[in-house]
Amino acid sequence: MKRRDVIQKIIDAKKARTYLEIGIGGGKNFLRIRASKKTAVDPNFTFSRRRRIEWTFRNLSNVRAKLYECTSDRYFALKKPTDRFDVVFVDGLHTYEQSLRDVINSLNHLNKTGVIIMHDCSPPDKASAQPAESVKHAAELNPSGCSSGWCGDVWKTICYLRSHRKDLNVFVLDFDYGMGIVTRGQAESYLDLSKDELDKMTYDDLEKDRNNLLNLKDMRYLSEFLGNI
Ligand SMILES: C[S@@+](CC[C@H](N)C(=O)[O-])C[C@H]1O[C@@H](n2cnc3c(N)ncnc32)[C@H](O)[C@@H]1O
Repeated sequence: MKRRDVIQKIIDAKKARTYLEIGIGGGKNFLRIRASKKTAVDPNFTFSRRRRIEWTFRNLSNVRAKLYECTSDRYFALKKPTDRFDVVFVDGLHTYEQSLRDVINSLNHLNKTGVIIMHDCSPPDKASAQPAESVKHAAELNPSGCSSGWCGDVWKTICYLRSHRKDLNVFVLDFDYGMGIVTRGQAESYLDLSKDELDKMTYDDLEKDRNNLLNLKDMRYLSEFLGNI
């Protein structure tokens, strides 16, 4: 199974019509996803016109797809408050601050029963979890822009949401660097970490208590989740 299969299963189970992907890079994921209204946001698309045309024939969802070449902050700043999505995939800049902002902004434009999927929530080692101090530093940590295995400190966004958003249910599938799933509703469990405590946490803290901090779920849990959405 690939990341796109998980996303597509969620789209299909929900009969979702609207899909937003934040951070699409070369479009490896986005161009294959099937949904009636797809939107992509990335300040730096790295696929050619030819690839887009080729994929328009291979996947008709791409005919009406909207592509915005800008940061997610700029994209959301220009959005009408009434614009809504069923499924959002957050995979842009891999910092705690930006991924949290992307989730909060997505929640403001998410349908009531919508699903936010976050990539890179469970970094496999210290090197992949190195926090970026700036956008420039992020580019140095992740020179290829995509798929290099750099997860940054996105995991802190999961901990933040589980500590401070009691209106959300949050868990992470133990698959593909950790796929975080955020939905509205009663959570099965919460954390109690203050913002200061979270700021001070390091990869070693994650490593010691990963299952609990991330509410990490085996991939078998996906079927149960799909059956309930
Ligand atoms: C890991 S790649 C995305 C991979 C893609 N989702 C996939 O599954 O194939 C991360 C992308 O985030 C983009 N990015 C970086 N900063 C961003 C921002 N502020 N807003 C939106 N996208 C951003 C980068 O340009 C890069 O293409």
